[in-house]
This record gives sequence, C-alpha cells and structure tokens, in this order.
Amino acid sequence: MVASVLDGKSCSAAVESSLVPRINDCVSAGIIPHLAVVIVGDDPASHVYVGAKIRACKRLGIKSSHIELPESTSEAELRNIITELNHDTDVHGILVQSPLPQHMDEEALTDLIHPSKDVDGFHPVNLGRLVQSRNDCLIPCTPNGVMRLLEWAGIETNGKTALVIGRSRNVGMPQAILLASRGADATVTIGHSRTADLELQCQQADIVVAAVGRPNMVKKSWIKPGAVVVDVGINRVDDEKSERGYLLVGDVEKSANEVASWITPVPGGVGPMTVAMLMENTVAAAENILQ
Ligand code: GUN
Repeated sequence: MVASVLDGKSCSAAVESSLVPRINDCVSAGIIPHLAVVIVGDDPASHVYVGAKIRACKRLGIKSSHIELPESTSEAELRNIITELNHDTDVHGILVQSPLPQHMDEEALTDLIHPSKDVDGFHPVNLGRLVQSRNDCLIPCTPNGVMRLLEWAGIETNGKTALVIGRSRNVGMPQAILLASRGADATVTIGHSRTADLELQCQQADIVVAAVGRPNMVKKSWIKPGAVVVDVGINRVDDEKSERGYLLVGDVEKSANEVASWITPVPGGVGPMTVAMLMENTVAAAENILQ
C-alpha cells in the first residue's frame, strides 16, 4: 500500500478561498484586516516562515506590517513595540516570531500580547479557553491546521486512538486537546522524551501526529498498517548535493508512506496549513471589531 497524500497545499488554498468573502465583508464595513509580524534576529528559517506569512497576507488583501528588529534589541524595546501594537486600533493581529534571542523571556512577551490580537493563540487566556472548549478563543495555528486537514480529507477521528509525539505548549499540548475534544472524539496519548516505549505506543495508534523537531525520528516500522501520519516536523538537514545546501526533512521517515493510509508530505503538508490558519485567525480578530 502507498499512502494517499494529505495535501496541505490544496487544503490551505481552500481555507484561503473561504476567507475571501469574510475579508470583503470587513472591507465593506471599513475595516481592513491587519497583521503585524515581528521578527528579531537573523535566524534564516524564521525569515523564510515570516516571508510565507507576509506573502499570504498579500494574496488575500490582508494588510501586513513586517517589523524586523536586530538581534541586539532589548526585551524592554520589544515590550514597547508590543504595547504600541496592542493600542493601535488599526492592527488586529500580532505575531512575534519564535524563537526569540536567548536574552528575551519569550513567555513573558507572549503574555503581553492582548488576547484579542493573539493570532498565534499562545496567550494563556486563549489556551485556557481552548481547554474549556469555548469558541471565543484564537486556536494555535499548527494544531488547528492539522485538525482542518484531517476534516478536509474526510478522515474520521471519532473513536480512533491518536498518539501526539511532543508536548510543546504551542503544538503538542493543544493538538492533544483538539483531538480529544468533543466533535473530534479521539482517544489521545501524548508521547515525549520520557515515554517508556514510544515505538510500541506508535504501533498501536490509528493516528500519529509527530511534532518533536527531530529528523526521521519516527521509523517506518513504528507505523501501524493503515494509520494516518501527520508530520509537523520541518527539519533542515545538511546536504551538499542540494542547491541550498540543505534538505527539509520531517520527523517521520518518508518510507512510512509504504505502511500508512494517509501521510502529510514535508514540505507541503502542515506548513501551508499553519499559514492558512494564521490568516483565518487574523480575519476572526478583525471580525471581532465588527460585532
Ligand atoms: N515559529 C515557528 N512556528 C511559529 C508559529 O506558528 N508562530 C510563531 N510566533 N513563531 C513560530
């Protein structure tokens, strides 16, 4: 069996299309959705991701402000910028690209973004409301994008066992909550670096979401035949033969597609979904003002 491709490019295009009438309604009401993206330092991968977010805004007619700051920026300076963006009524969404330089307290800065503008969904108010299954929250883009991709492909999660590998605040934890929540109704295990037998847990899972950031960590032999595999990892691996000098590799061995029923490609799987859900959150943040 060769797995069907869970095509994040097609699904994200459908999400973007669905936003067009919502954006038009905002504009008719005199509100242009506006996302401010702040990036600090020179991390090449972060600049690539931010570029993709800004391009998506341009495609959709969402206004974007791209604020690039040097590595030497102090935490106080960044706090001032976030505070200004919080008060700027023209701005609906604020995203501070992670990772921030070592000398900054990322958690404290995330807390500073007003929850109504927190289009990453990382603020404790938004994560808390997500745990409460409330719909007045902005949901983290990557796990929300994974749910949308599964739904779009018609993949049933109800009654299935799901293993989320990785317990990060922004991906693994909210992913587990979304999969277990009413409507999705999966039975969820969270695997992490201290899990006694991750391979066995994986072999028992109907759905595997790998979000650890370790290239090819999940082996083909770990995948239950017919399982659905969602690979959140986008790892740069040195490769002298490739034009850019590196390859993008997922957390799951590519050959897992010989065992799985569905699998996300890397790139072109979860990555475009993250961007599409960011656009959706930005539009939702702009719409809040309309209500
Ligand atoms: N760095 C990698 N992915 C993300 C993301 O979704 N949001 C932010 N803010 N930083 C990131």
